[in-house]
Amino acid sequence: MEQKAATATASPNIAFVKYWGKRDERLILPYNSSISMTLDDSLNTVTSVLFSKELQNDRFFINGEEQELADKETAERFGVVGILRRMAGNGEHALVVSRNSFPTASGLASSASGTAALVFACSKALGLEMKARELSIVARQGSGSSCRSMFGGIVMWKRGRKEDGTDSYARRIASERQWPDLVDVIAIVSTERKRVLSRSGMRQTVESSALYKARTKFAESNAKEMIKAVKTKDFAGMAGIIMRESNDMHAVMLDTFPPIFYLNDSSKEIMAAIHELNGSMGKIVAAYTFDAGPNAHIITLRENEAAVREALRKVQGIKEVKTAGIGSGPKTLPESDSLIDAGRLMPKS
Ligand code: PMV
Repeated sequence: MEQKAATATASPNIAFVKYWGKRDERLILPYNSSISMTLDDSLNTVTSVLFSKELQNDRFFINGEEQELADKETAERFGVVGILRRMAGNGEHALVVSRNSFPTASGLASSASGTAALVFACSKALGLEMKARELSIVARQGSGSSCRSMFGGIVMWKRGRKEDGTDSYARRIASERQWPDLVDVIAIVSTERKRVLSRSGMRQTVESSALYKARTKFAESNAKEMIKAVKTKDFAGMAGIIMRESNDMHAVMLDTFPPIFYLNDSSKEIMAAIHELNGSMGKIVAAYTFDAGPNAHIITLRENEAAVREALRKVQGIKEVKTAGIGSGPKTLPESDSLIDAGRLMPKS
């Protein structure tokens, strides 16, 4: 029996300049460019893919639970399998088994690492020789932010101008070796699934927020400034943009009608604690940022990690603090790491 299979791992990224809003919903083209840091494998998704004539239909398991492929969000994400299958001229069904090392859909960007690992594993299983840029274009169509997880280091997703999306892809602006001491201290204040998914949330913002137009201009100029700060190794410059970007994105969420709230009281206390820390150090040593959830990502340099952890100790409601370093991007894993029992065509138990 001929089987095409591969296993890959990818990590989430944390956005320094945020993506929130699509100018094309189907192709997932953003209104503004965004920039992120890819995390190392202390947070990751492992995904195994197998294409086989023996399979009667596509099947998708995440953390042991079979996903409903008729569900719109899941189908859109799984659509990347169809894109790659068409590129390879392959008509076989796929079995996909995925495992996250962190809570799903809690603002820790599981959709980014999940989609990046899925695209990477599928392309390998199908024997497609694709460059990271081409993979990022496919990943973007499953989950926008995932295109930035196709590279390690600090990565920009260019908004692009073309209607077909061929110029809206990710590219690396600094390798992990240029910023080896950059870390993300993650303060988990909730592991609940988010109430408003980013896909519908950003659509509501684009449709109803009067502040949104200003946001896209602000973000585009922040992306330019961020590139300069990254290249000149100006941590304080980067940190200022990171905090303002998070605040600006959450401001347009609040300006959405009906309003969208992702931050909770602990998130706001964390913001105050970081401003206090920077004040007491007499310079900016840390920056907070939040995605579509209340969990805080504190970007700092390794030498200041202990000071950040100390500042977080005063905040109520933090359940766990973990640190992720800067990562090197997706990788294939050996067959022995496969999550699939190829004989039974089922997840390994
Ligand atoms: O998960 P997505 O691709 O639908 O978008 C999430 C966007 C944010 O995480 C909120 C911001 C970003 O740029 O990652």
